[in-house]
Amino acid sequence: MNLVVVSNRVARASANEPMTGGLAAALLPVVEKSGAIWVGSSGRVRDGAQREPFAEIEELGAGALAMLDLPAAHYGGYYEGFANSALWPALHSRADLIRVSQDDYHSYREVNGFMARALMRFRKPDTAFWIQDYHFLALGAELRDLGVTQPIGFFLHTPWASPATMGCVPHNRELIEAMLAYDLIGFQTEEDRDNFLAYVKAELGLPITDGVVTSSRGASRCQVFPIGIDADLFAQQAQKAVAHPDVSRLRKSLNGEKLVIGVDRLDYSKGLINRVNAFERMLTSRPSLQRTVSLLQIATPSRGTIEAYGNLQGDLARLVSDVNGRLGEADWTPIRYLNKGFRQAVLAGLYRTAQVGLVTPLQDGMNLVAKEYVAAQNPIDPGVLVLSKFAGAANELDTALLVNPHDIESMARAIATALAMPLTERRMRWEVMMGKLRRGSVQSWFSDFVDALGAAHAAKGEAGNAAAAGEAPALKLAGGWSRRPPMAYGGAILQ
Ligand code: UDP
Ligand code: G6P
Repeated sequence: MNLVVVSNRVARASANEPMTGGLAAALLPVVEKSGAIWVGSSGRVRDGAQREPFAEIEELGAGALAMLDLPAAHYGGYYEGFANSALWPALHSRADLIRVSQDDYHSYREVNGFMARALMRFRKPDTAFWIQDYHFLALGAELRDLGVTQPIGFFLHTPWASPATMGCVPHNRELIEAMLAYDLIGFQTEEDRDNFLAYVKAELGLPITDGVVTSSRGASRCQVFPIGIDADLFAQQAQKAVAHPDVSRLRKSLNGEKLVIGVDRLDYSKGLINRVNAFERMLTSRPSLQRTVSLLQIATPSRGTIEAYGNLQGDLARLVSDVNGRLGEADWTPIRYLNKGFRQAVLAGLYRTAQVGLVTPLQDGMNLVAKEYVAAQNPIDPGVLVLSKFAGAANELDTALLVNPHDIESMARAIATALAMPLTERRMRWEVMMGKLRRGSVQSWFSDFVDALGAAHAAKGEAGNAAAAGEAPALKLAGGWSRRPPMAYGGAILQ
């Protein structure tokens, strides 16, 4: 089977940059090894892209990475509009933040259609397509409309909200009905899958048997595949990273203080305001802790042109400055607040330096930072994870200190408990979590999904007959992936 993986955001093997989000971070190492081709957005837009699709192609491990320029006229409506101002807030149960126009939905569908047409150039008789995340809910249906009969799977990296909340998304029926073109629909948690099936049953009135929805498009299996990390690799990285100058400078600057760390995109789903309030509450209600601990909050800028994100950035900066101004001393800053990203090779060392990892989203699909924090710990003297019960990761990491991020007082208590936790208890909790991370690796997530996609497609009885029409002869890439002649390195017109 030749695999084509599709997502809006991609990551380049050679870039040596901070990862933008969990999807790209998780996919990079596994796609690299699999020999798949990964197709996504170049981050650039182009007038006339629809007439002349343009892709930059580079090798990615044993496979290839194709980065497409998206149509200029529709990019804003697709990315900032429908994907991130309608779907993202709804999926994270924030229907109050939905802000879209009719044109945004049109642009979203246009970009899904554009991607489907571009993907036809990568189709071979034995190709399977694996579409990632909420940017491309309708891509499977667009591919089917173009005559694709091969396996098409979809994985949602975010949560899926209740039927009532998803019902607030404009055109929700049409869009969710379109999702039933996928042979396999993967979710992070049982709750997400159950919410999806509840919508399908209540709103679309379709029959569901053992997680399989039957519609006019055929059968769609809905299954849970919690995404993981390569825990042992991350642990090795963390061990190495403590020698990195950025990490050793941090250690020196602590002067014996303890460190609590938070690492998030600057997103309203991450519970950043509640977290800072809880840290402040801990310090004010336990004055003896003042000057003994600080919070390092890395908040990497994200989707900054969207109003809700701009507002959050302003609110958080003011709150942090207020707390530091009121509680700080000439030689102690309670919150070290950074608006930038770090490479994982450094981040791993920062995690290992911190006695507490604070991960408090209001809603989160999985949250890989929680898993990375655990993997980065020194087994002899591990730190403590304080984790929101509303992160998908809480299902597995249930020996973390689980908190309700809406309850500031109890979060303050949990941080103080974590800071004072005896070594034996820290080890016991950490060992259980590390064992689970090792068993639920990102490699097994990837292969479990691909195997299930093959099985779901075969069960649908549509296997075979995948002969793609009139293909140009293929070129062999170093890793065994094949690439068509018009797609030269460094950019080419696709048609
Ligand atoms: N990350 C990074 N550098 C940073 C901040 C984050 O490389 O400065 C990575 C982090 O290691 C993790 C990912 O970005 O792999 C964030 O994934 P998560 O699932 O926690 O959240 P998301 O951003 O996808 O909502
Ligand atoms: C989340 C989403 C990803 C997205 C990432 C970063 O993890 O599930 O699809 O790539 O955030 O967001 P961005 O909009 O910068 O790609």
